[in-house]
Amino acid sequence: MRIDILTLFPKMFQGPLNESMLGRAKKAGLVEINIHDLRHFTHNEHRKADDRPYGGGPGMVMKPEPIFEAVEFICSPSGQPKIILMSPQGKTFSQEKAKQLAEESHLLFICGHYEGVDERVRQKLITNELSIGDYVLTGGELAAMVVIDALVRLIPGVLGKRESATKDSFYRELLDCPHYTRPPTYRGMEVPQVLLSGDHQEIQKWCKHEAIRQTFLKRPDLLKRANLTEKEKSFLKEVKGKRDGCH
Ligand code: ADE
Repeated sequence: MRIDILTLFPKMFQGPLNESMLGRAKKAGLVEINIHDLRHFTHNEHRKADDRPYGGGPGMVMKPEPIFEAVEFICSPSGQPKIILMSPQGKTFSQEKAKQLAEESHLLFICGHYEGVDERVRQKLITNELSIGDYVLTGGELAAMVVIDALVRLIPGVLGKRESATKDSFYRELLDCPHYTRPPTYRGMEVPQVLLSGDHQEIQKWCKHEAIRQTFLKRPDLLKRANLTEKEKSFLKEVKGKRDGCH
């Protein structure tokens, strides 16, 4: 996959994109990431990429010309990437959207700033507008990094077998089950016996039940969409019964 990022602050990407899994994915050639400084596409003396809004009002607006020219520079005549504007007005990013984006061959992220971008950019260039949540960041850079991190780990080959994405929280609309590692007893706290039993079927069943329990306790809203079997539904009833018994 190829990812291009158009930003006023290219240095912000240096750490996150070169460390850990993203760094490994780049080194392995599974993803190519190019960062473009929007100021290179300005023509004025001060490399200004923003201007005052028509009609007045507070703040500045990102000018259309540098963005249009940068997009034309990045996009080859043959391949048209998905062009994603990061902004608080976008659709909320989710695991489902990460999966869809991971299937694309070329993505271009535009990191919004100030009061936003000139509306003509949105009208002519943008194919998706994404927000990472209902709060306002100083710019789209951190949001783009979040989205890129979430989607790159879903590209086949990026995660090793041991780190498979199929058990992630949200993979099946459930949160992940709790995890333990050595030692088996720490400060009097025991690892659940079943995890030490070597019985893989029982372990799987425990994980599933705990995932249901965690989801019920922390994010019950997700359970409406979860595809539970009849047996899992009756386990959920048990968990609910226990909770109601406590009150
Ligand atoms: N830019 C500013 N806030 C943002 C958000 N919540 N998501 C995406 N981009 C943003």
